[in-house]
Amino acid sequence: MTDPLITAAREARQRARASFSHFKVGAALETTDGLIVTGCNIENATYGLTLCAERVAVFKAISEGHDSFRRIAVVADTEAPTPPCGPCRQILWEFAGDIEVILANLTEEKGRYRLSELLPLPFDARFLGKK
Ligand code: THU
Repeated sequence: MTDPLITAAREARQRARASFSHFKVGAALETTDGLIVTGCNIENATYGLTLCAERVAVFKAISEGHDSFRRIAVVADTEAPTPPCGPCRQILWEFAGDIEVILANLTEEKGRYRLSELLPLPFDARFLGKK
């Protein structure tokens, strides 16, 4: 049976605005209460203002009052798994901590990782004496 978080990420991917790269990505972030908040990549004619699917999901969730997460699924139409980019790993670490990261394509699950495997030795608020 397909993990509902992957299904949600696949659905969100269909809403991607990827007119420039044509590379659509969907993400689904699960709160510790079991709620799912989705995101898709949103590109822009200036390119640099593009938002990745993962960050859209994180910022939507934070702005809606959620602050505790357990998993994120990321879906792209690629044979090899599409992992979160470096900036998304940093944002995920700072706002979601060491969550499980599930990578999938349109038909298959491709892998499960802890975020700490994808971002070893992270910089975060602890170094600023804020946590
Ligand atoms: N992208 C994501 O949304 N998430 C990833 O994990 C990798 C890259 C987007 C950014 C851009 O819109 C497109 O994919 C190509 O880089």
